Amino acid sequence: MKVTKEKLHQLMQDKIEAAGLPKDQAGIVSDVLTFADARGIHSHGAVRVEYYSERIAKGGITNNPDFSFRKTAPSCGIFEADNGAGHVAAKLAMDEAITMAKETGLAVVGVRNMSHSGALAYFVEMAAKEDLIGISVCQSDPMVVPFGGSEAYFGTNPIAFAAPSQDERMITFDMATTVQAWGKILHARSRNEAIPDNWAVDAEGNSTTDSTKVNALLPIAGPKGYGLMMMVDVLSGILLGLPFGKHVSSMYHDLSAGRELGQLHIVINPANFTDLDLFKANISQMLDELKEIKPSEGFTEVNYPGERGRQREENYEKNGIEIVDDIYDYLTGDAIHFDRYDHKNKFAE
Ligand code: NAI
Repeated sequence: MKVTKEKLHQLMQDKIEAAGLPKDQAGIVSDVLTFADARGIHSHGAVRVEYYSERIAKGGITNNPDFSFRKTAPSCGIFEADNGAGHVAAKLAMDEAITMAKETGLAVVGVRNMSHSGALAYFVEMAAKEDLIGISVCQSDPMVVPFGGSEAYFGTNPIAFAAPSQDERMITFDMATTVQAWGKILHARSRNEAIPDNWAVDAEGNSTTDSTKVNALLPIAGPKGYGLMMMVDVLSGILLGLPFGKHVSSMYHDLSAGRELGQLHIVINPANFTDLDLFKANISQMLDELKEIKPSEGFTEVNYPGERGRQREENYEKNGIEIVDDIYDYLTGDAIHFDRYDHKNKFAE
């Protein structure tokens, strides 16, 4: 089913509002989810609405959170999210970080006790639109083995970065620190397909190509990805005094409890380090030079991070966003949720 961006936004907002979030907050959650689907990050768009609605309806996302922000130093602050919607908390915290970085040159803002915040690209692009560099990292539920280990300890702990250029382009780099998302394993499992041997491990910690035997995911690039996901957990968990590593709550364990997750935004004002126009011109030059590089066999061009997502968005603007029929039926139906996620498989099969 193809729908316009506007229609998809309205359907998701209505459902989340019906689940219990006030209209303004449901609007922000829907902004972030629509952004994800429009960029082709379908793993973090409409597919999540039923899960969020179940969690909101059961009280595991606070519908009237007591949000607060306190400055702890000229360039540091803590946003207390009271287990409210992560998308809303992360956006409001980024607003604070942008204001702070404009004033002091730098902002390091931690979000404490939030729920899942979706695709991090949304938040770092807020900074880049204001001629700032945005960096954001967050925790997610433990499902990845440490390098050389056989049991899951860290989450897929993503890292995002955005920087402005002198033209309409922007660098948007946004990735999980695992080779693949859990959803890709489930997809292969549902089709009885094998998976590449660098995606996941079985119960003994051995790499497996059998999607039915997968017990945990592998970090990107072995010890290097393992180090990166550890760094993310230190910055968005331990630094903020929150549960870390295997103590991070599971997305599907108890939907009536708050998730107590952390996220850290770092915003840098380039104007405090170099001439802003020169900075932006050099980013544009870098992107131009990358585009001029002769593609290798099998490639038609070199892309810069975020470019393909924007191309998808332009295509969707013209032709509508493709939404799986089941999800469309759910979004247009009366039911708020079907009690599908609470206390289910640790990774919600
Ligand atoms: P991905 O593997 O699709 O893309 C990773 C990065 O590589 C992106 O910046 C993309 O622009 C770039 N890229 C991809 N193909 C490229 C190409 N051909 N040339 C140049 N650059 C290219 O992303 P991944 O790792 O699957 O993450 C998807 C989303 O999941 C992200 O938005 C992330 O924030 C989100 N996420 C959120 C979590 C949470 O708990 N909130 C947990 C894990 C991931």
